[in-house]
Amino acid sequence: MSTNRIQIFDTTLRDGEQVPGCKLDTEQKLVIARKLELLGVDIIEAGFPISSPGDFKSVQEIGRAVTEPIVCALSRAVMKDIEVAAQALSTAKRPRIHTGIGTSDSHIQYKLRTTPDQIIERAVAAVKYAKSFVEDVEFYAEDAGRTDNEFLARVIQAVVNAGATVLNIPDTTGYCLPDEYGAKIAYLRDNVIGIERCILSTHCHNDLGLATANSIAGARNGARQIECTINGIGERAGNTALEEVVMIMRQHPHLGLHTNVNAKLLLETSHLVSESMGMVVQPNKAIVGDNAFAHSSGIHQDGVIKRRDTYEIIDPSEVGVDASKIVLTARSGRAALAYRFKNLGYDITKVQLDELYKDFLEVADRKKEVEDKDLKELVSEMAH
Ligand code: KIV
Ligand code: ZN
Repeated sequence: MSTNRIQIFDTTLRDGEQVPGCKLDTEQKLVIARKLELLGVDIIEAGFPISSPGDFKSVQEIGRAVTEPIVCALSRAVMKDIEVAAQALSTAKRPRIHTGIGTSDSHIQYKLRTTPDQIIERAVAAVKYAKSFVEDVEFYAEDAGRTDNEFLARVIQAVVNAGATVLNIPDTTGYCLPDEYGAKIAYLRDNVIGIERCILSTHCHNDLGLATANSIAGARNGARQIECTINGIGERAGNTALEEVVMIMRQHPHLGLHTNVNAKLLLETSHLVSESMGMVVQPNKAIVGDNAFAHSSGIHQDGVIKRRDTYEIIDPSEVGVDASKIVLTARSGRAALAYRFKNLGYDITKVQLDELYKDFLEVADRKKEVEDKDLKELVSEMAH
């Protein structure tokens, strides 16, 4: 595998499913897992087996169902969690246990009520225990985003020595700025002995709308796995959106980073997740929102009609969208109207277009969007 290949760790079924009201049953999770496999993700985080019998079963069934991706199960740095995760993963061809503990001052003092040294001890014990079940053990340092870099490096050094294969550096609260998060990854890369044997991973939350930027900053500084969800769903403001990081790497080849994702399946995967979870995708969502390739102002429509890339940096067919949309509204110009009439099969002269445009604006001021049937009516009224 190329050293610049970024592994896509999809956590739609674990962190994504933590969204209130988005609970999925095993059957729905299996459908999504199969779709993620087709999409080409490298790792599917299938659930948190100790959390409920349903989650245990989902991890087991997904492990049976998918063959290509690694199937991962979450556990706290708690022996019972790790045992249950290992049991749930017994069906998986390529199992990974994801275990970890909070490392920031606030997690250590207030959530876990312990000491930094105890955190390191518990982290090491968890990794060693997980290693007794599976070879592939990912360690997460919860709230790494707000953890002092020197202490974080001590924790990470200890778990590298204990045999962790993947090192997850979550910005759990979405607090970091991109340069700060990138510097954190670079600091670990430069200060932990033996880290080159492991994969550094980003896991960024979106509380300040920076999850995608932070993940890319992490990858530019040495992370080789990005944890993300379809449509960016997840706790609070969500996780890094898979479709965004994948398309950033494709649109900026000079970064030299690439994934195995088949971008043509992004839209249908987005629809599947949105429909299964009953969670609407905001229309202006990058890449997969309804308006991501829609143009409604006259100036933009004129540009796109003349040459698509004047206002579009992605060819919609690349992500599975049929075509760009020219939406007819009161802000549309003659170029868009003529274009739509032509698509509808009308041969309209310039004089006719001037006349139709006046009538069109009257309709457009009454309606949010002028539809094809309105245009057909305008033509038939003109004929009488
Ligand atoms: O955000 C986070 O820190 C997590 C960990 C459990 C990986 O989701
Ligand atoms: Zn998370």
